[in-house]
Amino acid sequence: MAGSVHKVPFDQPKEFKFSPENMKLVEHHIAKYPKGRQASAVMPLLDIAQRQHDNWIPEVAMEEIARILDMPRIKVFEVATFYTMYNLEPRGKHHLQFCTTTPCWLRGSADVIKACERHLGIKLGETSADGEFTMTDVECLGGCVNAPVVQRNGDEFYEDLTPENVIAVLDGLKNGTKLTVGSQTGRKTSMGQAGATSLIDQAKSAGVKILEEGKK
Ligand code: FES
Repeated sequence: MAGSVHKVPFDQPKEFKFSPENMKLVEHHIAKYPKGRQASAVMPLLDIAQRQHDNWIPEVAMEEIARILDMPRIKVFEVATFYTMYNLEPRGKHHLQFCTTTPCWLRGSADVIKACERHLGIKLGETSADGEFTMTDVECLGGCVNAPVVQRNGDEFYEDLTPENVIAVLDGLKNGTKLTVGSQTGRKTSMGQAGATSLIDQAKSAGVKILEEGKK
């Protein structure tokens, strides 16, 4: 199943409270919705809980969210278990979610995953012994034009991956090196890999590669 993690025993904490700082964020999101519709804030609250609690959401946090939003606990659980962006078990410091949907697969996601598995000594669904990396697979991340794509901790995308450049990403994450997010082959945003073929003046002023005449 996409996004699944091999079961490793772990403890559920007995209590969860939002920090005072995060409580202000919680109130900010609830205030976006009309009175009586505060349950609509469930997704941002789950995200805040995950960020506060070391990148995973314990059951007590979901119960606390249900209490705050005055909604049945099962409804919070339903949302949290539906989306792969919510982690319901501990993850490594860098949770890498590899897209394996068709465009990424056609562009080599299987080889990228194999290269990472070899480099880290773990398989999809596992966490490295040093707690640095968890690898999972997910469905389309919405970055197909720059496939294959991996998402880190729900915040950063690394795109245009190859079995070679993904190792540089792994090493950079482990060493705390400042990495370029987005394309790892240097293309600008989602421009065609060959470079600009139209709007040439605008492309030049943006400093992007121009496709040579006759190569269209
Ligand atoms: S198929 Fe991989 S990002 Fe869409």
